Amino acid sequence: MTGAGRAVDEILRLREEKGLAIMAHNYQVPEVQDLADIVGDSLFLAMEGLRTGADTIVFCGVAFMAETVKVLNPEKTVVHPVPDSRCPMAGMVDTETLMALKGENPGAPVVTYVNTTAETKALSDICCTSANAVKIVRSLPDERIIFVPDQNLGSFVQRMVPEKEIVLYPGYCHVHMGISLEDVERLRREHPEAEVLVHPECTPDVVDASDHVYSTEGMIRHARDSDADEFIVLTEKELAYRLWKVTGKRAYAPDATCPNMKKITLEDVLSAVRGLEPTVEPDPELMVRARIPIQRMLDVGRGDEG
Ligand code: 13P
Ligand code: SF4
Repeated sequence: MTGAGRAVDEILRLREEKGLAIMAHNYQVPEVQDLADIVGDSLFLAMEGLRTGADTIVFCGVAFMAETVKVLNPEKTVVHPVPDSRCPMAGMVDTETLMALKGENPGAPVVTYVNTTAETKALSDICCTSANAVKIVRSLPDERIIFVPDQNLGSFVQRMVPEKEIVLYPGYCHVHMGISLEDVERLRREHPEAEVLVHPECTPDVVDASDHVYSTEGMIRHARDSDADEFIVLTEKELAYRLWKVTGKRAYAPDATCPNMKKITLEDVLSAVRGLEPTVEPDPELMVRARIPIQRMLDVGRGDEG
């Protein structure tokens, strides 16, 4: 047996023995996705964190996702194998800029993408993910809304909800920003039969050149239900593996890699299930405040578009 095979066996044995839940985001490397019992997008993982009966969750994704699960489940132990696996977009919000935006737009609620820290969430009215952003914004009675931090997702929401005014924050995902119109044109030329699915963190020109806009899990659900056999997925490249695994259909992605999602290796998961550390320990007072906008989001629910 190979070293990787031995590590997988040991992880699965310890998972059983200790009654752990192992969760992985759709962008994790295939070998980590394969040993997780729950795989999905950020919204699905947050909801599954509440549903799982396990007292300890080993979370394979970036830090804000593990933190969200902990905030929703303060009584559970959440282990994040590589704490340095962080989404750079979450680090783009600074409190002063956000407070200044609030001051310039008195009364406007702050809708915060889950790709943020607990500090940012604590200053927000309601959270959203790419799966439910349109639904969340439509659910609010207000005409003007501050949207933090992804400007591309915010622009997409603005186009879907033209009756409201969306005040954007200048944040972005470097991985999705790197996907260009030329990538879409080349992939369409190479796979003329494929349907083109795009993540709303991509730039508006890339979104316009695509057939459907979805969160990562939404892409998989669409592919499962579609008559098409091939898909171009304009998002992080590992989604192509996950889509194929779930649906048996082929998917092609541009060369877009999230280096932070790739920091968690099989060896890191093994070490995490052995020692049940490092654990996620946000400030308790911050957790209480950050929970409110996340819970409000879950009360509105998953969007049809997602
Ligand atoms: P999803 O919510 O679609 O999984 O997206 C999370 C993310 O980080 C996208 O880059
Ligand atoms: Fe953050 Fe982009 Fe990586 Fe998603 S793909 S975790 S938004 S850097």
